[in-house]
Amino acid sequence: MKFTTTKEQEEFRMKVRHFAEEEVKPIAFLLDKENQFPQEAVKKMGELGFMGIPYPKEYGGAGMDVISYAIAVEELSRVDGGTGVILSAHVSLGSWPIFAYGTEEQKQKYLIPLAKGEKIGAFGLTEPNAGSDAGGTETTAVLEGDHYVLNGGKIFITNAPYADTYVVFASTNPEEGTRGISAFIVEKGMEGFTYGDHYDKLGIRSSSTAELIFNNVRVPKENLLGKEGQGFKIAMATLDGGRIGIASQALGIAQGAYEHALEYAKERIQFGKPIAQQQVISFKLADMATKLRCARFLIYSAAELKEHHEPYGMESAMAKQYASDIGLEVVNDALQIFGGSGYLKGMEVERAYRDMKICTIYEGTNEIQRVVIASHIIGKAPK
Ligand code: CAA
Repeated sequence: MKFTTTKEQEEFRMKVRHFAEEEVKPIAFLLDKENQFPQEAVKKMGELGFMGIPYPKEYGGAGMDVISYAIAVEELSRVDGGTGVILSAHVSLGSWPIFAYGTEEQKQKYLIPLAKGEKIGAFGLTEPNAGSDAGGTETTAVLEGDHYVLNGGKIFITNAPYADTYVVFASTNPEEGTRGISAFIVEKGMEGFTYGDHYDKLGIRSSSTAELIFNNVRVPKENLLGKEGQGFKIAMATLDGGRIGIASQALGIAQGAYEHALEYAKERIQFGKPIAQQQVISFKLADMATKLRCARFLIYSAAELKEHHEPYGMESAMAKQYASDIGLEVVNDALQIFGGSGYLKGMEVERAYRDMKICTIYEGTNEIQRVVIASHIIGKAPK
């Protein structure tokens, strides 16, 4: 197992950091306040090749590795957690299933514009009665001639309504349970496909999240992704990779908060010396730095396994669970170091504190991550 990043990966980190500092940081508080999606910044991310980092150049991607992708999500999240998840949901959830399971025609039609950042991707799995129990999907798809007719709805969909291309899961055979779920590529603008509530969230407010509504949406047969009945496995395999993105988002948010707290602790004088020189604060900072380093190693080792096509589902669950659990502790400590001023609107640590919480919830709650980890180390619990 390798624990160092390459010179190229660190140079790429600097490129993303420069972009994040110049293009995202100056608008981050406004996006948060206005619940506003950063359309211009996302367009520039496409021009810089960020929207297709791990995909081959022949499919419009940057032809880079999975660690570089994790670094990009981390660096964007370091200044704005919402922008980090826009990239993560687009690359890992909206684009990857098409890359991994799509036909050549589907890749040409959908993956290339996604990887180039000309289109935005999203993933529609969660429903009111199918959250942690993703196999409880109630949206249906019935084959009628050359089309599948979709009915139902999805909730909490990241990048909706801005996304153009949606990988959507629906039951083609409800009697078969998880084996009756299929995946479809659904395009914005298809008749009967509309959006519901645009959520007003605690944090990651620059990332848009909305409901998807399917009312007799006729999806061409050629938009079935993989085989009929393969959808649940496609969803699970996609989430294995998505969790590397969420872990990186949590790491980036926490890293940003830690850096602000460190700087502040060196300047803030109490009892005649900087609070960083007082053991109670220096030990807190030492623990924060250690936790961040552990999370980074877990994330990069999962990314490295994915890069080398080795099994990584347990490692990505560990990375997501650990990075977001310690991420919450780190942002909490960062705010504590700032004291009362950290509790104010307009302070980075206040925004980081709100942005972080979702990382323990989405792409599988941290309870579900433990189910996944336990099933790898102990075996699957009997139903
Ligand atoms: N890769 C491939 N196949 C997998 C798999 C994986 N990682 N995990 C399970 N499978 C297969 C199993 O082998 C099994 O196959 P067979 O039918 O051939 O036996 C099948 O899938 C069913 O598996 P389980 O019986 O284990 O399924 P389950 O119903 O018990 O569910 C679970 C398992 C881990 C709890 C799963 O439901 C899960 O991950 N839940 C969490 C859902 C989730 O993460 N949602 C996030 C939504 S997206 C989001 O949040 C995005 C965002 O906003 C940014």
